Formats: sequence, structure tokens, C-alpha cells
Amino acid sequence: MLSLQSPRVLRLADAASVATAAITRIAARVSERPNCVLGLATGRTPLAVYDGLAQCVADGRLSFAGVETFNLDEYLDLPAGHPSSFRAYMAERFFRRVDIDPAKTHVPSGEGRPGDGDRYEAAIRSAGGIDLQMLGIGQNGHIGFNEPGTSFDSRTHVVTLTQATRDANTADFPNGERPPPRALTMGIATILEAREIILLATGTHKADALARAFGASPDTSCPAAALRFHPRVTVICDEEAAPKGSVLANHR
Ligand code: F6R
Repeated sequence: MLSLQSPRVLRLADAASVATAAITRIAARVSERPNCVLGLATGRTPLAVYDGLAQCVADGRLSFAGVETFNLDEYLDLPAGHPSSFRAYMAERFFRRVDIDPAKTHVPSGEGRPGDGDRYEAAIRSAGGIDLQMLGIGQNGHIGFNEPGTSFDSRTHVVTLTQATRDANTADFPNGERPPPRALTMGIATILEAREIILLATGTHKADALARAFGASPDTSCPAAALRFHPRVTVICDEEAAPKGSVLANHR
């Protein structure tokens, strides 16, 4: 029987401090274990984290040469090489800027072939599992592309994105283009197998999602609430995202 855990909370002044805390944790993990396995996210929240990690490498303070990475998700049905694919995002924002071996960078396939989810799960297992997973959170509480209603037992699977998520991500697409309706995402159970998780949230628009995730009893209407069953989660949020009156407001 799963028991509820209390996350560690770093409630910080602003988004820049959230990025610094995440960079510090990831850099420490990589320094302690140079061949560690990282779980990575795309989106706006981690952009400053990738900038900071690239700077550490440029300064000669950190190396990703032995690190293996697994991204959370990828759109389906985009033409190969599309600039808004998560593979393109990761290449531009992170992989090309650090000394990582491209063969050790994994992003779920966007090709929509049968068995792609199972193959991704097998690749994570054969790498020895994820040591440290970085997550963002959607305004509707999604983690990865696990939308509200997704089972906490889910494994890597194809999802139909909600209108809200497609609207939120439209700004990442060239003029007039909409995000595709489907994606392949690590499941919630896949994410919960990471040995350690950091959840980053910044801005007032994330406060409701955090309040639902760490407020009342967890249920599938807020996918991020599944994190409360994980023993080693750190929520790193700024003042704007820290929901008033919730468990996260009490851990200064
Ligand atoms: C990205 C991902 C998503 C984002 C979430 C928040 O790989 O899986 O769950 O983390 O949508 O996105 P931003 O950071 O753009 O607010």
C-alpha cells in the first residue's frame, strides 16, 4: 500500500533563484556520479536551468561526458526535424552546448510506431533507471504530458493533448501553426520510478496547480498529486507559484 509522503520544499524569491537551485542540485548529482542518468523536461521553466548548466560546462566546472539522459515526452505527427519538436528544443538549448555523447541522449520517438512506448521503457531500464528527474508542471496539473485523468499506474504511452495544453504551447510553434494533437509521454508510474525528483514551478499561473497537487487528497484529476507517493521529491518554487495556505506555504 502506497503511503503519503511530504515533499521537501524550497520556496524562493523568484524564478532566477529557482533556476539556480535546480542547477545546483543537478550539478551536484553529476559531480557525485559522473555516469548518472538524468530525466529532463522541455518547456519554458527549465530554459534558465539549461543555460546555467551549459555555462558550468563552458567554465570547465562540470562535464556531461558520462551522463545519459531521458526526456519526458515528444509530440507525434510532426515532420522530421520540425523546429518545435522536443528533440530540436533539447539539441538547441542543451545537448549541442555541452559535452554529452549524443548517443546517450534519449527523447521519445515522435514517429508513432507500435511498441515505441515499451522500447522507451526498456531503454530506461537498461540504463539502470533514472537517478534524478526534473519536472515542470502544467496549469492543469500535468506532469510530462500526463493530462488530468491519467492513471497513476501508467507507463510510457500515447496521449491526446487537451485543448488547454495545446493552447499553452502554441507560442512555441511558428506563426499560425498549432501543436499536434498527440504526444508520447513517460507515464506517471515511469516518472515515479526515478530515484529523486525535482519539480520546478514559477509564476502565479502555476499556483493553482501546485495547490491542487499538494493540497487535498491526491487523485487523478491532478496528475502531479502522484508525486506525493514518492519519498524523495523536492518542490522548487518561487513566491508567486507557492500557493497560499497550502502545505507548500509552510516550509520556508
Ligand atoms: C515538458 C513537459 C511539460 C512541462 C509543463 C510546464 O517536457 O513535460 O509537463 O513541464 O507543461 O511547461 P512550462 O515550463 O512551459 O510552463
